Amino acid sequence: MSLIRAAITSLGKFLPERVVTNKDLEKIMDTSDEWIVQRTGIRQRHFLDPGLGNSYMASRAATDCLTRAGVSPSEIDTIIVGTISADNPFPSTACIIQEMIGADNAWGFDLTAGCSGFLFALITGAQFIESGRYRKVLVVGSDMNSMYLNPEDRSTYVIFGDGAGAVLLEPSADPELGIIDFMSQIDGAGGQYLTVKAGGSKRPATFETVQNKEHFVQQDGRTVFKFAVKNMADVSVAIMKRNNIGSDDLDLFVPHQANLRIIEACAKRMKISPDIVIVNIDKYANTTCGTLPLALCDAEEQGRLKKGDRVIAAAFGAGFTWGSVYFRWAMDRDR
Ligand code: COA
Repeated sequence: MSLIRAAITSLGKFLPERVVTNKDLEKIMDTSDEWIVQRTGIRQRHFLDPGLGNSYMASRAATDCLTRAGVSPSEIDTIIVGTISADNPFPSTACIIQEMIGADNAWGFDLTAGCSGFLFALITGAQFIESGRYRKVLVVGSDMNSMYLNPEDRSTYVIFGDGAGAVLLEPSADPELGIIDFMSQIDGAGGQYLTVKAGGSKRPATFETVQNKEHFVQQDGRTVFKFAVKNMADVSVAIMKRNNIGSDDLDLFVPHQANLRIIEACAKRMKISPDIVIVNIDKYANTTCGTLPLALCDAEEQGRLKKGDRVIAAAFGAGFTWGSVYFRWAMDRDR
């Protein structure tokens, strides 16, 4: 039986129009552009207008991805959406956007893994291609984090943004290219350090939960920082070792964009050059499931991804969850 590899054959993105700069935040809370830039590398973020919902961004990124590929929505077999901010507890974002984009032959589901949601969705989608069961899987990473932000908590408010990205997975025309390997892990002991306490089945919304501001994100920033650096770097080094890739062989490292200092510390721990690391946190902040597809999309638009390139994408998120994917890039620049 010949090997089928899944490859990314198109990319798309969507960012809400409303840009909120650090200077804008200075007007509503006790913070400064200088502190935010120095401690996080973030200069601005996009916020979605209330009432539109995450599906608004997810559907636009999906449509952008399909338009760039020249693929009709009816050709899509499966939609997987990595997200932590669905419009409603149910139906899923996948169901909502299936109707919005007109993917009338697709089935699909949402996948929740904190900020690792897109990476886990990508490796899940790849299995459907590799098994030979499906030929076109749309993987979306989309989050409206502004819904979780407490304006009275400056340490979380300044680091998140809203945004979405999407990729199309198809069988690779060249079996040497595409998604070669992945490693993924979870550790529930880390759950306490990054969470939204209410709004689920254990603490449904009540007057009390709203009054206590339990629907907003809460985190122990320093602990999350340390685990993010160690786990993203170590899983990426492990996947490099398993695939015999030395630091000099790697063409591009695409890390989850949570904090510029996390990205830099991760690259240092991996002993790779900062020149091969994709950074766009300055423009978008942490868009949770949006960061990796947005970073891949930006890298492709900037001509930083060439066919055959060895690329590693890594994520870390609430749970804790983390993982790494190794690609040989399969897209032609001059498609
Ligand atoms: N503006 C100004 N000052 C701020 C601030 C802000 N937005 N946020 C926090 N501070 C202050 C704190 O109150 C504290 O002041 P104090 O010393 O007077 O008590 C000081 O800055 C240092 O706080 P600390 O929390 O130690 O800062 P830090 O260097 O750890 O940076 C984070 C805070 C949140 C940016 C950082 O810990 C981080 O990025 N952690 C990872 C979070 C993350 O990525 N979460 C998602 C993971 S997927």
